[in-house]
Amino acid sequence: MSTITTVRFLDEIAALRLARLVTGEVRRTGRHHLADGVLAALDTLHRRHRGRDGFLDAFLDAVLARRRDRFRNQTYLALPLVELVRADLGVDPERMAALLMADVVRHERRATGLDARTRDIRIRHATRFVAATDPALDVDRLPGGWFGLTALPVSLEHDEYFFIRALQAHEMVFTTLTDEMRAATRALRLGDLAAATARVRRAVDVFDRAAMLFRLVATMRPAAFHAFRQYTEGASAIQSEAYKRFELACGTPTAQRLVSEAFDNVPAVRAEAPGLDNFSRAWQDLGARGPAAAELTRAVEQLEAAHQRWKTTHHSLAAAMLGSAHGSGHTEGVPYLRRCLENRLFDLGPVALAA
Ligand code: HEM
Repeated sequence: MSTITTVRFLDEIAALRLARLVTGEVRRTGRHHLADGVLAALDTLHRRHRGRDGFLDAFLDAVLARRRDRFRNQTYLALPLVELVRADLGVDPERMAALLMADVVRHERRATGLDARTRDIRIRHATRFVAATDPALDVDRLPGGWFGLTALPVSLEHDEYFFIRALQAHEMVFTTLTDEMRAATRALRLGDLAAATARVRRAVDVFDRAAMLFRLVATMRPAAFHAFRQYTEGASAIQSEAYKRFELACGTPTAQRLVSEAFDNVPAVRAEAPGLDNFSRAWQDLGARGPAAAELTRAVEQLEAAHQRWKTTHHSLAAAMLGSAHGSGHTEGVPYLRRCLENRLFDLGPVALAA
């Protein structure tokens, strides 16, 4: 800690070394309890050096988020840093999700103080996700450098580490889903129903794998969740831009949803909405009939069903963990999620029925 407070210029210490020192401190105290002197020193240093090292900028934006009144889903999960690391490693979002889960396996194997059964179940779920997503990945050979500095818990609660990794992996899943649905939409615009069907089917597989992440999160002890949740107020996955982009790639949300807290929390994504093409619109414009169209309709129904299952599991998980407490994104919590069960991704109209 004394080293951090005496660093005045970045030349005195390389960016990665500084970030390692800070991460060490975060792991000792929890991000929420970093000493004021450390935060003030980092703030000054960052103002002086911003723009010189993108990784350090993203790292310090996360570490200093609460102090700067910018504590949100993005900064809690250090998502800009995760994206930089992903680009640097040259891996797609799916492989990044696998790496993040492999890190959970590594972390949990070292766990002490957790009952052996919970630990084993947790490791099993994370291992299954890795095996299903990237079978060639060696859990014992994870990237070093900035990758290891992308989990910045706010507390000393053991379970928070894997919770952060599960949320980050979910972000990767939603990014993959958006890419698939945008590609399916482009295929429809070219009249290529087979290519569109292949993309939608892949999205179904990716979504089904995301269910494994929920099984993993379900191993969290509610008491552990509440122990760190007191420090995450203001950060909620309702602010996930990746999730809302996926929604927009599938169809146009109802006017009611677009003006609700769901999109109030992602103003940048809401601003993109008017100019975006989406799968439902392309499907209606094409007005295809026949066996190929029927195949595509089946795939779309499977994706809709996978999303409904995802929302149902999420709702049950939130009910078990939260009870009647409000959400950290300031909604009323579980009742909000119950209403979300009525939403649908696709608006295929009479075209799909005729297929
Ligand atoms: C302990 C586990 C969890 C609890 C208690 C929980 C609770 C909640 C609550 C109450 C909301 C409503 C917004 C708010 O006020 O915060 C919400 C929204 C959301 N959560 Fe979770 N959640 C949990 C885990 C997860 C996980 C693992 C994911 C995976 C990404 C996730 C994704 C989302 C998304 C995408 C929304 C926005 C839904 C929408 O706007 O339609 N949650 N969650």
